[in-house]
Amino acid sequence: MLSEQSAATVRATLPAVGAALGTITERFYAGLFEAHPELLRDLFNRGNQASGTQRQALAGSVAAFATHLLDRPGQRPDAMLARIAHKHGSLGVTQEQYRIVHEHLFAAIAEVLGDAVTPEVAAAWDEVYWLMANALVAVEQRLREERGGPAWRAWEVVERVTETADVATFRLRPADGGPVRDFLAGQYVSVRVALADGARQIRQYSLSGAPGPDLRQISVKRMREGGAPDGEVSNHLHARVRVGDVLELSEPYGDLVLDAGPDDTPLLLASAGIGVTPMTAMLAHLADSGHRAPVTVVHADRSPATHALRTDHEAYAAKLPDAAVHLWYEQDAPAGTHPGLADLTGVPLAPGTRAYLCGPLPFMRAVRTQLITKGVAPADIYYEVFGPDLWLAGQSA
Ligand SMILES: Cc1cc2nc3c(=O)[nH]c(=O)nc-3n(C[C@H](O)[C@H](O)[C@H](O)COP(=O)(O)OP(=O)(O)OC[C@H]3O[C@@H](n4cnc5c(N)ncnc54)[C@H](O)[C@@H]3O)c2cc1C
Ligand code: HEM
Repeated sequence: MLSEQSAATVRATLPAVGAALGTITERFYAGLFEAHPELLRDLFNRGNQASGTQRQALAGSVAAFATHLLDRPGQRPDAMLARIAHKHGSLGVTQEQYRIVHEHLFAAIAEVLGDAVTPEVAAAWDEVYWLMANALVAVEQRLREERGGPAWRAWEVVERVTETADVATFRLRPADGGPVRDFLAGQYVSVRVALADGARQIRQYSLSGAPGPDLRQISVKRMREGGAPDGEVSNHLHARVRVGDVLELSEPYGDLVLDAGPDDTPLLLASAGIGVTPMTAMLAHLADSGHRAPVTVVHADRSPATHALRTDHEAYAAKLPDAAVHLWYEQDAPAGTHPGLADLTGVPLAPGTRAYLCGPLPFMRAVRTQLITKGVAPADIYYEVFGPDLWLAGQSA
């Protein structure tokens, strides 16, 4: 909890810090990467840095944490901390690196806010930073211990499947022949690859099914958007990685995991595009565990030809005693599916439905609004974002 004198100072300076967040973030990363180029090369996503999008996640979450401490001093924002700690855990962030980030974040704040940063103001924000950092370090330590073993492990590609023109599935087995630990449906791994210029870049990929006890499976969409550079890691995986090659993977992390409830709660699994990956793992788990309550599966895609994992998706749903599948395609919708964007207005939902969402933000916003209109409790709606979670830091409605 924040001390009383710091709380007053943080409250008074929060509007100024919030208003300057964009500039603070810019200066922070410039200083951090000038002093530590290896962090940009081998740890941070340099595509996100180059495009300038989603850079505010780190500093923005410190401001969101401060707001939380002021508004609800008795509570810790556990959901926010867990999301960040899982991401950090999968990236192998270390305790020492928190000092480096602190140094450059506070240098940026002092530079941008100038004389407004009196010793008192600096001390108050210092307290906020270390409350958050120490809470994160503790959770990250626990997550690492639960997983045991090294942060990175070599996995050999034993199968590569073309799902669609832009999506490939990679099945992997530990190169050391050792055991594969269980994961929870909905979790992801970080994948670290060495690129042509010597950089090692890391991205997260959801485990996309239940391929067997000795294997892990990821399904990767290559990012090719007209006008912007091709995505580095997804295109590297598509262009270069074949059966017999070795990839470095973290253990599974991620706090958006399926909780089907001891009472067999009715579930909704809604995805769009490549957001299908964690939903397929969830369906596989439900099919394996003999889930009996109603399961409503919703998926939206550009066309049937771009719908990755469709066969698995439908086969797992078919194994469930009470599942309904609703599909939307913007183009070429065949009979039995719907044309256009997902619209849940006419989809019946059992009372007490728990919903899991994964897809682009506009899709998740639209589905969330429709679910709330249909009476689903906001607390029963969970979502995964395939990028820094700006919803979480309160930066995107
Ligand atoms: C929890 C989680 C789970 C995920 N699960 C999956 C999954 O199951 N399957 C999957 O395919 N993906 C998944 N992702 C997304 C994945 O991690 C990557 O973000 C994705 O593969 C793109 O990475 P990339 O290296 O190819 O693109 P990046 O190189 O990271 O590029 C990302 C974007 O930035 C743009 N960009 C890059 N450089 C510049 C520049 N200089 N100027 C302007 N724009 C630029 C690119 O055009 C691209 O649109 C997941 C993400 C998370 C966080
Ligand atoms: C109190 C300190 C910190 C806070 C509040 C913080 C906050 C965040 C947040 C909010 C995200 C986005 C999470 C998501 O939604 O997926 C993130 C991601 C990340 N963080 Fe931290 N972080 C802190 C410290 C660090 C440290 C010490 C490092 C290592 C030097 C680090 C490296 C990263 C990286 C590499 C990412 C992934 C984003 C990317 O690759 O561009 N963070 N952090």
